[in-house]
Amino acid sequence: MRLEGRRALVTGAAGGIGAAIVQRLRRDGAVVASADQEGAPASGLDFSFPGDLTDPGYVDALPERAIEAMGGLDILVNNAGVMRRGPVTETSDDDFRLSVAVNVEAPFRLCRAAIPLIAAAGGGAIVNLASCWGVRPGPNHAVYCMTKAALASLTQCMARDHAGDGVRVNAVCPNEVDTPMLRTGFAIRGLDPADAIASLDASVPIGRIAQPEDIADVVAFLASDDARYVCGALLEVNGGKPVG
Ligand SMILES: NC(=O)c1ccc[n+]([C@@H]2O[C@H](COP(=O)([O-])OP(=O)(O)OC[C@H]3O[C@@H](n4cnc5c(N)ncnc54)[C@H](O)[C@@H]3O)[C@@H](O)[C@H]2O)c1
Repeated sequence: MRLEGRRALVTGAAGGIGAAIVQRLRRDGAVVASADQEGAPASGLDFSFPGDLTDPGYVDALPERAIEAMGGLDILVNNAGVMRRGPVTETSDDDFRLSVAVNVEAPFRLCRAAIPLIAAAGGGAIVNLASCWGVRPGPNHAVYCMTKAALASLTQCMARDHAGDGVRVNAVCPNEVDTPMLRTGFAIRGLDPADAIASLDASVPIGRIAQPEDIADVVAFLASDDARYVCGALLEVNGGKPVG
């Protein structure tokens, strides 16, 4: 129960990794509020604030609403994300705008609103979901990689700027994780998701791609006092597989 008494806000909580993060934080004793356009995940939640993270008014108000509901905020997890595929020559204006709005602008707005509130209450932790495909270039996902690189950089900059305020900021950088994001991507390309995942499994030195829980456990670690001296880290969680 290392998060007993902590209050957490998790975006994208209805998604594959988000639902696992919610479960893991709650198992560690935290009270959790979610923000997702899909509403609360089936796993159950303490508080839910459904909405669209591309709406600045909704995003700016979330930390205050979470504090009103939970009596405080100690942990912010910027997990929501979208993945639009393709090289820049096949990236539409809509792909670009949506990717920047969800993957970069929403975390920026949430951190900007939350950091002073967390600091004023004695400190806490922010964990961002970046990607291995943000710390190194990946093929055919130019704008997705760019947004994750931006989030990784924002993480490191905020960590330096706000460590002295008692706010630790870190990012988890997974490689492939078995979630709807990955599976729908295969389906869009006309591939059978189960076959595609089996061949991806064979490409990972540890023998399989990640399950959402493999990522959620690392998020919970970074959010906890076990990571009290970890600040500004871009923690790659990739089963030994580099971006190829
Ligand atoms: N799955 C992977 O292989 C992988 C690898 C590296 C990093 N990541 C990152 O991990 C995070 C979670 O990914 P996932 O695989 O669980 O994806 P997912 O598609 O299963 O879940 C993403 C969630 O974000 C929510 N969301 C998206 N746009 C939103 C919006 N405008 N407003 C509110 N909510 C919105 C969706 O409703 C969904 O519940 C993302 O940031 C993703 O980029 C995923």
